[in-house]
Amino acid sequence: MRHLTDIPSLSDVDLHEIFARTKDIRQGRMPPAFHGSIASLFYEPSTRTELSFLKAMDMIGAHALRVLPERSSITKGENPEETLRTLQAIGARVLVVRTSEPLLPERLTQIGPGIVNAGDGCHEHPTQALLDATTLLETRGSLEGLRVLILGDHLHSRVSRSSGRLFARLGAKVTLAGPPSLTPPALAEALGARVADRLDDALEEADVVMTLRIQRERQSESLVPDLAEYRRVWGITRARFETHPHFLLMHPGPANLGVEVDGEIVDDTRSLIRRQVAMGPFVRAAVLSLCGEGAA
Ligand code: CP
Repeated sequence: MRHLTDIPSLSDVDLHEIFARTKDIRQGRMPPAFHGSIASLFYEPSTRTELSFLKAMDMIGAHALRVLPERSSITKGENPEETLRTLQAIGARVLVVRTSEPLLPERLTQIGPGIVNAGDGCHEHPTQALLDATTLLETRGSLEGLRVLILGDHLHSRVSRSSGRLFARLGAKVTLAGPPSLTPPALAEALGARVADRLDDALEEADVVMTLRIQRERQSESLVPDLAEYRRVWGITRARFETHPHFLLMHPGPANLGVEVDGEIVDDTRSLIRRQVAMGPFVRAAVLSLCGEGAA
């Protein structure tokens, strides 16, 4: 594997290698030390993705080159291709990039270094999907037949696209629910998912509920004008969580507490939310080490 730009371009062999290497790293069997540098270039803000990539670089013995766009020549108009060529000249063999521009990571694969997509606009967030799937695999053993409900703003969510696709590919029965304006049936079809008619029925049937952040920064029009109303109709409130006592709760973060999910249930024993975050460095260490081998 040389690049990780999206879930569909991962072969079954790639997927197997990522899961196997993640398991090895989880059990303390580290891959050979990474020779050289890995660069991180986050044009968009991030806490868990960027920091877990930086931790992953440290875990595999890579030298981290962290570009801070607001303190770099990007402020002078340097384009992503030029920034990547500069990082390559300095010695970066792999670049981790987060951007608001869909498909930029794929475009950058033409230049040379391995490219890892850390989220590109509304398109994909493949390492989030891999860590979500790994969290479920560790918790449930298999995704085959698992009923997963993804709830919220699908229209603007790269997580819905990446995790929904990967869950379905691993055998889960994926259902989408959310405001009709944010839940396009064509997207559900593309993911191999169905759209729920009634939230309460979907919650009752679900083994796992992954609720999504309302992404007001990506909404060009006000599709969710009233957050209190959103919580009432679509939120995983404490009352809903207790009325449906069977499902495990996930959220890719960062959560709008008190909107799509109530703060007091995030650390409930049925919540996997902290485990998802904790899984990040392991999955990303596996991905970076495999991309480093592919780019060698
Ligand atoms: N899940 C996720 O991408 O979180 P960050 O924006 O904090 O990286």
